Amino acid sequence: MCGIFGYVGRCEDAPQRILEGLKKLEYRGYDSWGIAVRLNGNAAIERHVGKIGLASTMLPASEIGLGHTRWATHGAVTEENAHPHLDCSGRLAVIHNGIVENHQALRRELLARGHLFHSQTDTEVIAHLLEDELRAAAGEADHLAQALICAFRKLDGLNALAVLDIASHRLAAAKTGSPLVLGWASEASYLASDPSALLEHTRRLTFLEDNQVAVLSEGGVQVFDATLGERLDPRIWDITWQPELADLAGYEHFMAKEIHEQPRVIHQIAAGWGAHAEQLAELMREARGTYMVGCGTAAHAALAAQYAFSRIAARHVNFANGSEFAYLEHFLNEHSLVIALSQSGETIDVLDSIRAAKKRGVTVGALVNVEGSSLYRLADYPVLLGAGPERCVLATKSFTAKLAILLLTAYAFDHRLEEGREVVQRAADEIQHFLSDGRAELMRQIAEQLYQREHLYIIGRGPSYPLALEAALKIKEVSYIHAEGFAGGELKHGVIALIEPGTPCLVIAPKDETYTAILSGAMEVKARGGFIIGLSPEPDEVFDIHVPLADVGEGAMLVNALPPQILAYHLALLRGCDPDKPRNLAKSVTVK
Ligand code: AGP
Ligand code: GLU
Repeated sequence: MCGIFGYVGRCEDAPQRILEGLKKLEYRGYDSWGIAVRLNGNAAIERHVGKIGLASTMLPASEIGLGHTRWATHGAVTEENAHPHLDCSGRLAVIHNGIVENHQALRRELLARGHLFHSQTDTEVIAHLLEDELRAAAGEADHLAQALICAFRKLDGLNALAVLDIASHRLAAAKTGSPLVLGWASEASYLASDPSALLEHTRRLTFLEDNQVAVLSEGGVQVFDATLGERLDPRIWDITWQPELADLAGYEHFMAKEIHEQPRVIHQIAAGWGAHAEQLAELMREARGTYMVGCGTAAHAALAAQYAFSRIAARHVNFANGSEFAYLEHFLNEHSLVIALSQSGETIDVLDSIRAAKKRGVTVGALVNVEGSSLYRLADYPVLLGAGPERCVLATKSFTAKLAILLLTAYAFDHRLEEGREVVQRAADEIQHFLSDGRAELMRQIAEQLYQREHLYIIGRGPSYPLALEAALKIKEVSYIHAEGFAGGELKHGVIALIEPGTPCLVIAPKDETYTAILSGAMEVKARGGFIIGLSPEPDEVFDIHVPLADVGEGAMLVNALPPQILAYHLALLRGCDPDKPRNLAKSVTVK
């Protein structure tokens, strides 16, 4: 869950290149950061606690180095625990993403052999292990690769790591689980944990696969199979993604920018994704059962799909959270279809689900935002969301992009793609209007009324139920207010005990068959003193505040996603929280 960036080449500005690369990757982890470069045959290192933000580096000119933004798993967030970590000789600087599960046993062995440790991290064992293996491999051809293979084999867990070898003036990397991508450029090589950090330097990328080791020099990249120890012919991809400028386009935060990008992204999907929808629909027709899997926000999109397919296409699709899938996979077979949803394409719980499904002969489709990501490469039928890079840790445009494609697919399944397009377009228009006609300001005013509350509830029924879950997640993760989403009909089965005079409750009440029942639920909350904020096409006496929304039929799930996003954003600002980098979170969850 960290950001890794490395450079080796002819230019002497390695510290600046690495710093800029880390700034692009900071969304992956941001409790501390550090850089190591080679200087006169030694490692020069800086490490800092906190976000990289607008930091600059004081490291001297160098042609090789690497850097890391950390999301701590082992050892507190301190300068000494920030990466890179050195071996005893000072020859090696190591950065790492993941968890070395057997680090305690390895540390004990290394201490017994006389190694000295300077941090509490699991990562540091890698530097010392490699130090010993390099000594043993001295004189062998490819000794850096062979030593790293030996050290890497001793690590348990899912790990991606990179090493600066001062002595040989090279970088090396290895991975299982977490992502690593290698960049080929003229007289330079790069490595990073995400292609978006490399695109301004090169579009020629090699995705390191699990159990592979790479050695990078200014002359290029060598890849080895860590199991067999043999050199491989790496596949080079030419990536077509346009590197997105890191600029905020006038917005104060990426969250606001990405919320405002939604109408464009959804329109683009309505206009151009018909063939993808037809293809997914055809796969579903051929399959005996379809299973949607995703985590967090993507799980909410998957659950929403269950409702959309039932209503629009009279087709049942199953749903599972990525982290629960392993306990529900036993009935999959070669006639099943699994559609994985993921912005990053790197979420380990989703990837594990897909790997398990593939072992059972399942066909795998994917809705994924990052081209070349692990999910993109694993899936038989990957469909790119086309939402563009999502920098804010909170998923916004990737959520509505997924919903838009799923809606189109449900209509395509029922041979009504054209109608689906119109539904999605109308929803995109309404989102556009909402953002510009004063209703976004209404959400800010509501945030002013609510930002000091401790609890907030959101209710919805049918397709609005997953939207209530998503609204609660947005509010929780960015403002740290305790928010819970419930199926409106479940209130009376227990939840209503939580309602006290003044408790705010957001009610999602589109004009569909849930309308009357959800208003009754709202009335029950109000009868206990609840303060009701209604998201609905029509006013109602139960609403203390009415947020008017156009009636866009089945597109309501797209439109209803928007007001809570804006509310969450303003709650965060009013409470002094950073909307783009909420505490304890990371954009790409690559640990179990
Ligand atoms: C959403 O706001 C999240 N921060 C999180 O729940 C996210 O959706 C989840 O981790 C899945 O990520 P993915 O889409 O990249 O797989
Ligand atoms: N486990 C390592 C640590 O705690 C790496 C964490 C990360 O992926 O950032 O430092």
